[in-house]
Amino acid sequence: MNPIESSNQNTNSRRSFLKGAGALATTALWTGAGSHVHAQGSDVIRVGLVGCGGRGSGAAVQAMDAGDDVRLVALGDVFQDRLDAARQNLSVNKNFAVDQAHCFVGFDAFQKVIESVDVVLLATPPHFRPMQLEAAIEAGKHVFCEKPMAVDGPGVRRVMAAAQKAKEKKLALCSGFCYRYNGPTRELMAKVHDGAIGQVQCVHVTYNTGGLWMYPRQAAWTDMEWQLRNWLYFTWLSGDHNVEQHVHSLDTAAMYLNNEYPTECVAHGGRQARTEPEYGHIFDHHAVVYEYASGARCFSYCRQQPDTQSDVSDWAFGTKGRALKRSFNYHEILGENEWKYRGKPTDAYQTEHNELFASIRKGEPVNDGDFMAKSTLMGIMGRMASYTGKKITWDMALNSQEVLGPTSYEMGPLPVPPVAIPGKTPFV
Ligand SMILES: NC(=O)c1ccc[n+]([C@@H]2O[C@H](COP(=O)([O-])OP(=O)(O)OC[C@H]3O[C@@H](n4cnc5c(N)ncnc54)[C@H](O)[C@@H]3O)[C@@H](O)[C@H]2O)c1
Repeated sequence: MNPIESSNQNTNSRRSFLKGAGALATTALWTGAGSHVHAQGSDVIRVGLVGCGGRGSGAAVQAMDAGDDVRLVALGDVFQDRLDAARQNLSVNKNFAVDQAHCFVGFDAFQKVIESVDVVLLATPPHFRPMQLEAAIEAGKHVFCEKPMAVDGPGVRRVMAAAQKAKEKKLALCSGFCYRYNGPTRELMAKVHDGAIGQVQCVHVTYNTGGLWMYPRQAAWTDMEWQLRNWLYFTWLSGDHNVEQHVHSLDTAAMYLNNEYPTECVAHGGRQARTEPEYGHIFDHHAVVYEYASGARCFSYCRQQPDTQSDVSDWAFGTKGRALKRSFNYHEILGENEWKYRGKPTDAYQTEHNELFASIRKGEPVNDGDFMAKSTLMGIMGRMASYTGKKITWDMALNSQEVLGPTSYEMGPLPVPPVAIPGKTPFV
């Protein structure tokens, strides 16, 4: 499952693939990383990170660990302090090769990173994903992008179009939907698709947790800086937590149902325990019932309320039994065909990058475009139902004209939208 190729394998196909993909140059033309760029005489794959936070830094390490031919050469973030901290932390890796000239700060940092590399890692808050993904594919770069892919219908449409363009241009597009790359989850899903629990009739996915981090506002921060630093709590930035966090569970529902996506949903949701203004305006719980053309249903729950029962588990109920997945390592089938995953844990985050870079070297690019866009839309559709109290169809969500947040960016005033009220907040 971890197809790491030696850096000397497939050199020819890799070279032509990088070229064909629109990469500006092979290592012979790129000198920013110093003397070790000609690793064993092979081409080097230059990687840049946009969004130097926790997950972006993790993804950068996984990219650097995906082969001797990979170099991290550029960093971009909207904030200098976030970039500096990541640069310091990442610099211990042997494949770190970021010089000062390739550190970019500001809202346009992503463009400069994209110009400097062959592969871009996109790990900002999801609001910026469609714009940055479009730009990367337009520039002919391979992409790893964190979930979720967008926060609104127009954003999902842009992601779908960019994913299609990536296919046409033979560019790799790997997503941070890590369970798709998790060995035990793959085994479980293969059994479910093979009929181990019979016909899947119902899926029950849950992401109930306590609270997450929050940075108290500092006097010098503008509204924009405050919101960016606390992006989880603003729908235009995160999509709300049923999109930002629970999208992993929704993607698992899609896996159980062999990539069938719902036709409509209704929901309950609100904000009861986390009501202070420092937590922006998102809800702290959502309960969504999704319906499918096949007759299946998905019951979807997520909650972020301190001191409440945590549960992160995903069930599928079939005509012959049940399947259960808990996080990365607990996978089980109950009923006629009992089974439990008893193998070693695997590292899904590393596998994402191993498979991404292997696909680039081989000239057979991965493309996660379809499920990554649709699982994101499933979350957005649930939020629309939760905020409005109305039934929302897949087509309504996909064709929605509502663009969340500003369309141009600067550090300045930015009012917080009101908390949605079901029955009063309109569908747009
Ligand atoms: N796959 C997973 O298991 C997983 C886990 C955690 C986070 N994530 C996802 O990864 C993404 C990042 O999450 P995180 O936890 O790293 O958040 P974070 O706040 O730690 O990092 C986000 C970084 O992006 C920067 N940023 C914000 N706007 C930017 C812009 N316009 N241009 C450049 N940089 C910008 C921020 O300054 C920050 O450094 C989110 O989409 C999140 O949902 C995925």
